[in-house]
Amino acid sequence: MSGKNLPMTDALEAYLRTVSLREPGILRRLREATAELPEAHLQIAPEEGQFLQLLVRLLGAHRVLEIGTFTGYSALWMALALPEDGLLVTCDSSQEWTAIAREYWKEAGLAERIDLRLGPASESLAALLEEERGHYDLAFIDADKEGYDGYYEACLKLLRSGGLVVVDNTLWYGRPADPADQDADTVAIRQFNDKLHADERVDLSLLPLVDGVTLARKR
Ligand SMILES: C[S@@+](CC[C@H](N)C(=O)[O-])C[C@H]1O[C@@H](n2cnc3c(N)ncnc32)[C@H](O)[C@@H]1O
Repeated sequence: MSGKNLPMTDALEAYLRTVSLREPGILRRLREATAELPEAHLQIAPEEGQFLQLLVRLLGAHRVLEIGTFTGYSALWMALALPEDGLLVTCDSSQEWTAIAREYWKEAGLAERIDLRLGPASESLAALLEEERGHYDLAFIDADKEGYDGYYEACLKLLRSGGLVVVDNTLWYGRPADPADQDADTVAIRQFNDKLHADERVDLSLLPLVDGVTLARKR
């Protein structure tokens, strides 16, 4: 073994899904419906959804927070793993995309277990910070990249000790590794990754899963 991460080919990705993916029918249908949208690329990959679901189960999570709902695919993976008295709070500014999410959550019988906060995520998080510090077991950040730092700081306050922040797209198409790339989103991700590397408040791992997934456990 070289100790290097395997390059992901289409054939290897197909194999990985064949031998590990257990996507329930309702999630497959939501993924296929979302694939019809021009913005379909915003959705996480199915193996990432299954990974999030496993994390919810491993943590025994009752309260989950998500920033970036889109059509509700990642939220549904996680909500399916919550106990009956569990709650997932998810934040998004799009009425149009979250209307699709609501349809599928209802069909899954999980409408009551998912609390959608519509509006700018910074405002939804500010409202949660008024009343719910230390209440959450897991937070998933998957929204505008320039907002990541603020969302991370809010999530750390909202999590209990031992809770987990999961951050999507931290390898951002590989661009942060190219110093010549000064695009605003790339710079935001690069600064965010540097900050987390030095952040003694968390235990850290950055997994090369899909577009990069960072796990930060609140100490
Ligand atoms: C990458 S998508 C989320 C994908 C979703 N987690 C999934 O797997 O289906 C990002 C979402 O963040 C939302 N968003 C972007 N900036 C936002 C902001 N400032 N406040 C609230 N939502 C925002 C967008 O409307 C979009 O639905």
